[in-house]
Amino acid sequence: MTKVLVIGASGATGKLVVSELLQRNIEVVSIVRATSSLINTIGNYPNYQEILANIDDLSDQELASHLNGCDVVVSCLGHNLTFKGIFGEPRRLVTDSIIKLTKAIDLLKPDDKTKIILMNTTGNSNRDIPEKPPLSQRLVISILRLLLPPHVDNEQAADFLRTNIGQDHQQIEWVAVRPDTLTNESKVSKYKIHPSPTRNAIFDAAPSSRENVANFMASLATDPELWEIWKGKMPVIYNDA
Ligand SMILES: NC(=O)c1ccc[n+]([C@@H]2O[C@H](COP(=O)([O-])OP(=O)(O)OC[C@H]3O[C@@H](n4cnc5c(N)ncnc54)[C@H](OP(=O)(O)O)[C@@H]3O)[C@@H](O)[C@H]2O)c1
Repeated sequence: MTKVLVIGASGATGKLVVSELLQRNIEVVSIVRATSSLINTIGNYPNYQEILANIDDLSDQELASHLNGCDVVVSCLGHNLTFKGIFGEPRRLVTDSIIKLTKAIDLLKPDDKTKIILMNTTGNSNRDIPEKPPLSQRLVISILRLLLPPHVDNEQAADFLRTNIGQDHQQIEWVAVRPDTLTNESKVSKYKIHPSPTRNAIFDAAPSSRENVANFMASLATDPELWEIWKGKMPVIYNDA
């Protein structure tokens, strides 16, 4: 029986992932900051458990105890779009949380491999393939790397999974899901998944609704055949307009 730990669960996409999973009768544990409880917004689900904590403050041991029994982790963490969120600490919120999760999995040594699903971005390339984005995109991304710490954090989090966990880890499998421009819609619509971006992420970006991203992430968590297709990869999601 699948049990999923969601981090960044109080975010715009994280909430939708939690709802998608609960509607599929999946057991969900979320770690949210005390000011961001979801209990009042998502309704009363017996299969929902909430840990009020800042993931940044948890020790590896504490995180391991919350992770115990979960076979999937979904990260929808992202820096809040305020001056402090973008330029303040923790600068490596996403990367350090992913590293901490892998240490917690190592402490638990579960019998089966744990699946990590990371919410990433089309602004990041999969250097395993390798992808070569258009020159105009590469130029802008190199400037963003200098100016925007959250972009570097997103790149480093996926790089950690790609290079440190890799394709043949004893305990962990992963997928880094790459939406393009996040939008809010009223419901899930048709979407398409590609191994690599098919458009310029800066000058020809397309919508990827949060509802569709959450639906795809929940499907990855619950559908073993879909997982087999995308594990160790960085699928790109666009709305199918
Ligand atoms: N904007 C786009 O078009 C776009 C495109 C592709 C990918 N992305 C990426 O997608 C991801 C999610 O986006 P979103 O819009 O769904 O995110 P969001 O609504 O901003 O949610 C961010 C989540 O991270 C948590 N968080 C932020 N700072 C934290 C901290 N210091 N300590 C602990 N938790 C913290 C927030 O918790 P609180 O509720 O407690 O603040 C919230 O749960 C981000 O990584 C973003 O870079 C964005």
